[in-house]
Amino acid sequence: MNTGIFTSFQLRGLELPNRVAVAPMCQYSAEDGMAQDWHLVHLGARAQSGVGLILVEATAVVPEGRISPTDLGLWKDAQIDGLARVVKFLHSMGTAAGVQLAHAGRKASMSQPWRGEQYVKPEDGGWQPVAPSAVAYAENFGEPRALDAAGIRNVIESFVNAAKRADAAGFDVVEIHAAHGYLLHQFLSPLTNKRTDEYGGGLENRMRLAIEVSAAVRSVWPERKPLFVRISATDWCEGGWTADESVELAKRLKSMGVDLIDVSTGGIARGIAIKAGPGFQVPFAERVRREAGIPTAAVGLITTAEEVEAILNEGKADLVLMAREFLRNPYWLLNLARERGVKMSWPKQYLRAAPADAPMRAGITN
Ligand SMILES: Cc1cc2nc3c(=O)[nH]c(=O)nc-3n(C[C@H](O)[C@H](O)[C@H](O)COP(=O)(O)O)c2cc1C
Repeated sequence: MNTGIFTSFQLRGLELPNRVAVAPMCQYSAEDGMAQDWHLVHLGARAQSGVGLILVEATAVVPEGRISPTDLGLWKDAQIDGLARVVKFLHSMGTAAGVQLAHAGRKASMSQPWRGEQYVKPEDGGWQPVAPSAVAYAENFGEPRALDAAGIRNVIESFVNAAKRADAAGFDVVEIHAAHGYLLHQFLSPLTNKRTDEYGGGLENRMRLAIEVSAAVRSVWPERKPLFVRISATDWCEGGWTADESVELAKRLKSMGVDLIDVSTGGIARGIAIKAGPGFQVPFAERVRREAGIPTAAVGLITTAEEVEAILNEGKADLVLMAREFLRNPYWLLNLARERGVKMSWPKQYLRAAPADAPMRAGITN
């Protein structure tokens, strides 16, 4: 039975075997930005499920762009090998590998969440964050320094260099993180961007950095490999970034060779009420897809096969990302295929637990 979930999806030279992907999820478990055993085991287990694509967590393009001192990074060549090991394993499971390139801006230099949300001061191994404007996110966050023109140029170059390293590590997809109140979103939103130069003010100016970063990354990211951008489609408040602006941005990104918009929402400021519920962000993915004419990914409180199927079959998004459900249930997809009688390949080591006709998993070569 074809449920929509198990249909392939082609973007440039990449063909995904199904429409479910693991959303990027920070593990706060790197050392000096380098992937550890945890990353291999965590991402590897989810790849065993046969999910088409895994997006590796927010990976910092500069050290000061890390949310916490233990974030992954691709700001130096020494960080390539650890991620290449992860990519190689994902490929052996037939799963495409994406990496989310990120800069946390004013939300940087925070402790790991399980230690409480605290600013890590420079004397404790942290740093002063940078931002479009010198306004802190909240009282327990660092006071940011506003980026000057050279600082902005450095951000763009750092995304470019990180993308080259992502290619060297074998990644199939780069996703630029322009959501959740991190640096590129801080430039997009009037709530956080108070600049008076060409990077602040009207929509065109606020979009400039996200567009320049995307264009610069596209110019070095191989032609055959897709480029995603994650956006927060709304700030959920008066005076903030809007869904109309998201459609505008998506049109511009499409015209410069971005292949898919990963549509999330929120994160720009404290104390904004969001009515979250199952699939609450899907209408934004649908609108961007329809009005900007670009493939989208839907994400956010999507946990059941029925929800995923409805999104795909009703043409609301091309891909569905799930985050927390994959933490609770890494083999979600493999179990679903078994329940539905869909023939899906299994890792050869697990075949004795698989349906009798299950084929052996074949890896992908890059
Ligand atoms: C542990 C954890 C870490 C996350 N880290 C990231 C991240 O690195 N980048 C990002 O864009 N979103 C991150 N998110 C948000 C998820 O990608 C996703 O958008 C969100 O959890 C909603 O999806 P869900 O309801 O399926 O969990 C994280 C979420 C969780 C639970």
